[in-house]
Amino acid sequence: MNPEVKDLQPKLKEVLYDCAVEIRATKAALFLYDSIGRYEIVAEYGFKGAIRQSVDQKDPVVDRCGRGRSAFFVNGLSAEPRFSEIMYESASDRLLAAPIYNRGQLIGLIDMRDKAQKQLFDSADIPKAQKIAERIAELFAGRNVFGQRFISLSHPDDPQNVVPRSTIQSAPLPSAAADVTRAPVSSPARTSSPIPAVPAKALTDQSARVPRLSALIIDGRTAANRIVLPPAPESLTENELSAIRDVLRSILLIPSVAVVSFTAFGHMGGIQEVAAKAVISEEASAFLQSKVNVWLAKRGESGGHTRRNVQLPLGPGTASIQSSQMVKVFTAPVTAGAFRSLYLTVAFSANPDRVSHELLTAMLTQLQMAIERSVDRTSLQSLRERAAIALLEPDFTKYPELRSHSELVASRSEALARYLEMSPGEIENVRIAALVHDVGMRLLDYDRLYRKPDISLDEIHLLREHTTVGAALIEPVLGHEIARAVLCHHERWDGTGYPNELAGEEIPRMARIIHVCDVYESMISTENYKPAQPRGAVLAMIAENGGTQFDAAIANRFIEMVR
Ligand SMILES: [Fe+2]
Repeated sequence: MNPEVKDLQPKLKEVLYDCAVEIRATKAALFLYDSIGRYEIVAEYGFKGAIRQSVDQKDPVVDRCGRGRSAFFVNGLSAEPRFSEIMYESASDRLLAAPIYNRGQLIGLIDMRDKAQKQLFDSADIPKAQKIAERIAELFAGRNVFGQRFISLSHPDDPQNVVPRSTIQSAPLPSAAADVTRAPVSSPARTSSPIPAVPAKALTDQSARVPRLSALIIDGRTAANRIVLPPAPESLTENELSAIRDVLRSILLIPSVAVVSFTAFGHMGGIQEVAAKAVISEEASAFLQSKVNVWLAKRGESGGHTRRNVQLPLGPGTASIQSSQMVKVFTAPVTAGAFRSLYLTVAFSANPDRVSHELLTAMLTQLQMAIERSVDRTSLQSLRERAAIALLEPDFTKYPELRSHSELVASRSEALARYLEMSPGEIENVRIAALVHDVGMRLLDYDRLYRKPDISLDEIHLLREHTTVGAALIEPVLGHEIARAVLCHHERWDGTGYPNELAGEEIPRMARIIHVCDVYESMISTENYKPAQPRGAVLAMIAENGGTQFDAAIANRFIEMVR
């Protein structure tokens, strides 16, 4: 790589990341001319290695950039066949490319792929892409990096053009700052420790190190990726299967579709989910399977054992489906996440028309998205639950009673949320909030007060602060909604609870659910400082206090569920 380009690499990467910020491209690569007839990659993000390292002038993207001289986009692998291989190689299906011109010469190009949230690139992205390309070109304005005829007289060391090397290195943290992070929150000695004086020259250097917003985003996302991204799952789970079944039922509504099947070899021991308009005869099943096998063999792929599950959402029908009714059978690979060996097969009872074809294509995309969304939700869910448990771990280790209480309240609240037919997202929130509802105890005088039988009024007031302290502690980690449920889990329906004396529906529903479960689990517990109460008596108390302490509707449903 040209040493001048190498020097500029951090700056180039920073500008390249504007493709994520301004266009929301999930992948982008910058290729620059290497003066010997090729364009080499100098910066990229998102491709994870699945991108060509250099391209020549015959490359279709270079060729098109050279001819059109402006940015262009291609949405879909089949939209322009000459780009399909390039897209396929990088596991992408949408491309936006912008040429970079300097003194009339094509000095490079930006190759962007796959806009976030499966959106298509559109004409509004063209000027944005062009502007980013211009920003790259500006970095080379005063240089003669690409062997061009016109040699600029501007000095390459011009501070306007050169990014100090120091920007590449991160400034070392003073050791005192590192200590502060480990210091107990309440330690006054730490907060008063003198901050070392910083020489004026160093301050100037520091200001030169202040990165642009986009550089901060790169750092942030890189760090977040390390924390957030769990390894991509390789096997489907029951969660994905239920999303898949929903889409299969929708496919069955396409005119003249008789049977649709989703096959996943090697997942959960091999599975085949089938939806059909009527019962399928043995002979028709075998016919369908043979069609899939032929299709697999043609692609050089092999099948394997599968366990079949058939659903008949429209009922068993008057007559069973025969192979003679399967006029056309289509199979397509399903590409979702990191999963392998997924196939969708659709049997039509008549030649499908154009609309049916289009519907089927749309449904295939829908199926892929449903699988990916389901995986994301599962990963996110486990991540949030892990964060909740991490918050509690120090207390859980010290106080096994608190652990068992929190887990009991979490399971009971989750069960009640399910019983109330809340959405999966709400159920998950209820569970997490219930798990951390007493986390604020950590910062209070918990050690001493936890098992104390003769607790004074002042101590009760102190313990009551656990709702506000807990909410503040978890808000940055688990978000506002969970924090609000924690804050309000001791509010009462009649407005006599704490900390804010909210009443009725001012109290978040999640908090009302946790409140009743918390009271129930505390009263029946044998680990409490008070003697355990019989279940029947506790349920009677809850019934009696519906409308005063508890939301009456929630209390009644709770009693129904527990009885
Ligand atoms: Fe509490």
